[in-house]
Amino acid sequence: MKPIIIANWKMNPQSSKEANKLFEDIEKEIKDIKKAEIVICPPFVFLPSFTNIKKGAQDVFLEKGGAFTGEVSPLMLKDLGCEYVIVGHSERRKYFGETDEIINKKIKAALENNLTPIFCVGETEKEKEENRTEEVLKREIKGGLKGLGSFEVTLAYEPIWAIGTGNACEVKTAAKMRGIIKDILEESFGKGVSKTPILYGGSVNSKNAAGYIKEAGFQGLLVGGASLDAKEFGKIVESVV
Ligand code: PGA
Repeated sequence: MKPIIIANWKMNPQSSKEANKLFEDIEKEIKDIKKAEIVICPPFVFLPSFTNIKKGAQDVFLEKGGAFTGEVSPLMLKDLGCEYVIVGHSERRKYFGETDEIINKKIKAALENNLTPIFCVGETEKEKEENRTEEVLKREIKGGLKGLGSFEVTLAYEPIWAIGTGNACEVKTAAKMRGIIKDILEESFGKGVSKTPILYGGSVNSKNAAGYIKEAGFQGLLVGGASLDAKEFGKIVESVV
């Protein structure tokens, strides 16, 4: 299976001119790379501009349509050519009050519309210090995937303390966490889910990227800050193929 490299631009950049430039620069960097599944997740407003690289959204609403001011439906994303959508990112949990229950509904809404959810889980610094990581992951995974009919989900382990801090998770620790996540998945949903791809995210850069794929066994990466630098993002992809 090809490694899946997701670029999460978050709320950047601030103009379509900059977004187009970044997109073109990334396209140049990755044009000869065939051995990775590369997905760009820009803010909603820039989604219509991009055609040549696979794209995903950073969020989706859980209803099909109607009176939900400010929201974007899975059908709208599909119509814009999205194949993926990030669901349950820690920033959405923290700043927008997304609960496991909401995330579960969003995952179901995405799947019903043939969008692959990139379902994010991970512990805070405090939870890590209190040795509660496993308990938190269990709650998030079981809650997020409850009652699912199909498992076309991609999971992303994103320790919250590693996001945007430059303090990436050590490869050895990440490998251990990957094993724990696999066990939780199998224990909760049976062996059939063992093929669910698990990605790593949190301060990924061109120096540490390969370790997560080649040593820790992750099937891909969720890249935030470094995906806003086309050259650095290109180097990340090159290092893992
Ligand atoms: P980061 O973000 O690479 O900037 O740490 C990762 C993420 O939030 O998905």
